[in-house]
Amino acid sequence: MIIRTALASDIDDVLSVERAAFGSDAEANLVHDLLGDASAKPAVSLLAFEEDRAIGHILFTKAYLEPLSIYILAPLAVVPDRQKQGVGGKLIKHGLRILSESGVELVFVLGHPGYYPRHGFKPVGVLGFDAPYPIPEKDADAWMIQALRQGIVGTFRGKVMCAEALKKPEYWRE
Ligand SMILES: CC(C)(COP(=O)(O)OP(=O)(O)OC[C@H]1O[C@@H](n2cnc3c(N)ncnc32)[C@H](O)[C@@H]1OP(=O)(O)O)[C@@H](O)C(=O)NCCC(=O)NCCS
Repeated sequence: MIIRTALASDIDDVLSVERAAFGSDAEANLVHDLLGDASAKPAVSLLAFEEDRAIGHILFTKAYLEPLSIYILAPLAVVPDRQKQGVGGKLIKHGLRILSESGVELVFVLGHPGYYPRHGFKPVGVLGFDAPYPIPEKDADAWMIQALRQGIVGTFRGKVMCAEALKKPEYWRE
C-alpha cells in the first residue's frame, strides 16, 4: 500500500472512496465542498492505494483559534473490504506527520471515542477547547484533541472555528 497526497485529478477516486466507506453521498459532498473552500486551505488530503486502486482517504482542514495553528480531521474513510486492516491508522499517522512538520500545534476530530484514542487523540473534556457547535452531552467524548506540540494544552483555551463548508450544525452531531 502507498499513501500519497491527493491531487486535483484524483477527485473521482476521493469521492468514490468516501461513498463506499459511508454508504451514502453525505461525506463525499462534504469533502467536495471542503476541497473547494478557501477557508479550509491549506488542507491535507491523502489517498491510500493498493496497486492502482484507491482504498482509503483522509482529510485534514484548517481551523482557527488565534494565535494557534490548528486543524480538524474530517472525514476518514476506508472502503468496506479493506477496513480493520490498519489502513485508517496509517492514514492518520501519515497526516499527523505532515501537519507536525508544517508546524501545526493541535488537531481536533469529532469521531468514534473507541477508535481515535488508538491513534493519540483524547477527549477534549475539561481542557477548554469548545467545538464550533455545541456537542450533545451524551456525545461529549467524541470531540477529541491531539497536541502535536507541547505546552499548548493547559496554556490556551477557546472556541475552535472551522472552515466555512463545515459550518453546518448537522456535521457536529456524532
Ligand atoms: C472507521 C474507519 C475509518 C477505520 O479504518 P480502518 O482502516 O478500518 O481502521 P484500522 O484498521 O486502523 O483499525 C481497526 C480497528 O478499529 C476498530 N474500529 C473501527 N471502527 C470503529 C468504530 N467506529 N468504533 C470503535 N472502533 C472501531 C476496529 O474494530 C478495529 O479494531 P481491532 O484492531 O481491535 O479489530 C473505517 O472503518 C471506515 O471507513 N468506516 C466507515 C466510515 C467511518 O465511520 N469513518 C469514521 C468517521 S469519524
